Order: sequence, then C-alpha cells, then structure tokens
Amino acid sequence: MSENFFKWDQERLTTHVDAMDNEHKKLIEIMNRLHDRYEAKAGKAELGPLVKELGSWTVTHFQHEERFFDTLDYPQASVHKKIHKDLLERFTGHAAEFEKTGHLTPEFFQFLKTWLTAHIMGIDHKYGEVAHKKSA
Ligand SMILES: [Fe+2]
Ligand SMILES: [Fe+2]
Repeated sequence: MSENFFKWDQERLTTHVDAMDNEHKKLIEIMNRLHDRYEAKAGKAELGPLVKELGSWTVTHFQHEERFFDTLDYPQASVHKKIHKDLLERFTGHAAEFEKTGHLTPEFFQFLKTWLTAHIMGIDHKYGEVAHKKSA
C-alpha cells in the first residue's frame, strides 16, 4: 500500500472502534492511490474514477459512522452530522472543479489531509471514547 501522501498511525488515529478504523484505513488507501496518480501526472480519465471512488466511499463511511454513533448515547451526534455534511459539500465542490478543469489542486490534497488529521483525531475520536465507556 502506497503511503506517500498519508500514513496510517495507529496510536494517533485510532478511534478504538475497529470497524471505523478499518474504514478510515480504506479512505486513506484511496487518497494515497489518488495522490500517487496525481504526482505521476495522470490525466482526467485516470483520476476521475478515483475521485468518484473516494466520494462514494466517503458517503458510505459517513453513513456507517452516523448509524453507529446513533446507537450510542453520543451527545455530539448532531454536531458531528453537520460536520460530515460540510465536509461532503467541500469535497463535492472540489470534485466539481475537477470536472470542469480536469485538474486536481494542491488545495484539494491539503483539504484531504486536514480532514484526516483534524476530523479523525479531533472529532471521530470522541465517539470512540463514548463507545469505550459504554463497553467498559
Ligand atoms: Fe466522522
Ligand atoms: Fe470517520
């Protein structure tokens, strides 16, 4: 698995919920693949399906996560859903820009990186704590 864009770091990124960790790993795997092809100067025809794959996997992941934390007594559920919605909107904005220009931008990858670090470590981590307390 290519790790040149983003490396999974168990200690920093784990939510302590295995199913969600696995989904985050899958997201990172797609992002790394996309970044590899971007660096290799692949054209729109090759990048396009990867952008779509990332988009649809993101939708799926957010649904799984929301379904999961709805089963918990998780006070930040609605805030978290709103954050997902905003992230998805920003992603869609970048994807639409790509459709128009045929180019991905450094800003797009910066956005992905910030999402991974800030969202997984700062936001997703919280339902992990709640899930943990519940199972303890
Ligand atoms: Fe999340
Ligand atoms: Fe997540």
